[in-house]
Amino acid sequence: MQRIKIKELLKGEKLGKQVKVMGWVRTFRSNRFVALNDGSTSNNMQAVVDFENFEEALLKRITTGASVSITGELVESQGKGQAFEIMVSSLEILGDSDPDEYPLQPKKHSLEFLRDIAHLRVRTNTFGAIYRIRHQMIYAVHTFFHNKGFVNVHTPIITGSDAEGAGEMFRVTSLNLENPPKTEDGKVDESKDFFGHETNLTVSGQLEGETAAMALGEIYTFGPTFRAENSNTSRHLAEFWMIEPEMAFCDLQGNMDLAEEFVKYLVSYALENCKEDLALLDKRAADEDKSKPQIERNEMGLIERLEFVATNDFERVTYTQAIEILRNSKPNKKKKFKYIIEEWGADLQSEHERFLVEKHFKKPVTLYNYPATIKAFYMRANEDNKTVAAMDVLFPGIGEIIGGSQREERLDVLKEKLAVMNIEEKDLWWYLDTRKFGTAPHSGFGLGFERMVQFITGMGNIRDVIPFPRTPGNAEF
Ligand code: 4AD
Ligand code: MG
Repeated sequence: MQRIKIKELLKGEKLGKQVKVMGWVRTFRSNRFVALNDGSTSNNMQAVVDFENFEEALLKRITTGASVSITGELVESQGKGQAFEIMVSSLEILGDSDPDEYPLQPKKHSLEFLRDIAHLRVRTNTFGAIYRIRHQMIYAVHTFFHNKGFVNVHTPIITGSDAEGAGEMFRVTSLNLENPPKTEDGKVDESKDFFGHETNLTVSGQLEGETAAMALGEIYTFGPTFRAENSNTSRHLAEFWMIEPEMAFCDLQGNMDLAEEFVKYLVSYALENCKEDLALLDKRAADEDKSKPQIERNEMGLIERLEFVATNDFERVTYTQAIEILRNSKPNKKKKFKYIIEEWGADLQSEHERFLVEKHFKKPVTLYNYPATIKAFYMRANEDNKTVAAMDVLFPGIGEIIGGSQREERLDVLKEKLAVMNIEEKDLWWYLDTRKFGTAPHSGFGLGFERMVQFITGMGNIRDVIPFPRTPGNAEF
């Protein structure tokens, strides 16, 4: 007999038929009721074992975590909590799980404890739901861009350029670190390295993405990116996934429009396609909220927050307007911010972003036209010669979720900018070629995928929305 997934079985179409399921035992109660989960849904299938008809030795092996194959008739359940159950006619243990050693007990474990056993935490309801939602979001990203005619481009993971110019890169080398080849003046001889020069893991696929947009028109990347920034926060990973669309013939306005449409699409997609898992996480978030002091509680529940974002326009505010709001804000005047906003030009910290979103506007905010001095070299200079056509989308509970800009397409202006920022033209010769041959106005942005999944699942820590998080001091598994 063919195995059938629990998600299918719960539709009830096989009522009265013999069925076979395989999965992992979540609990075994009263020597009679097996709660079985096979990962297709967070809902367990109840299997009823008539213990008089089974060997004692076999029943002893039905333990939390064991994997089993069960055959029996699908019937309407007599008990509460489930519509259907299986009357077991045969049960085979596929893999034992010693209850004295198995770290997951049928009780609530802390997220911190579960992070230490990331290889097993996917077997819990919370993480099963997160993994499934993450998958749905990946699918939604591709669907959104595919439907708009964007071409998905794989940009390199090993690269010779620092796209963001922030110097937060992981070095890639095959040199012997104990005894590297040296040049005459005693420095490490990079020409002897695998690629013949210094290489790093990419921090962004944008620059290579731009070259593709200058031929294909509209492209997007969706790949892993790496940052060696020593930020031990609930929003930073050393390895995260980023989606970077890039559009030819598009200005900042069009860029902000696409960013807003894109994230609203992802949120709506989740609401539509992840109902069961979202309901589970909504309840989880509500329970967690109850244990917090009143001021830290969310004003809205998880699903409510998602509905709010999907249906309300984001606030669009210039950096200059935002500085005014922040300068006159209560936490600034009462010196409650860690970084007090004194003058125009200050970089915004996450506390400022969250004040704007959560306290002032009470909705997502798109901030644009930032000071040139705090932004990357490739952003387009505005007429005022002080600001660039940059934009960030800020989300409640998250802060910055998207960063992007219109790009500097004017070769002379771009070269000036490189000089000011001490970036060598020869390192970006190929990038400059796009401005030399058929340059065109273009724009793009990057969405941090984990921050988006964090928002959708309501998880407070980014380490809980990627299967195996990489953070300073931790690359286990
Ligand atoms: O603002 P960032 O640094 O922008 C870029 O990399 C541009 N090249 C994007 C573009 O215009 N094509 O990063 C983009 C987004 C951030 O808004 C944030 O959501 C996420 O990437 N991000 C991180 N997510 C997790 N951990 C980190 N360390 C992150 N750094 C950035
Ligand atoms: Mg940014």
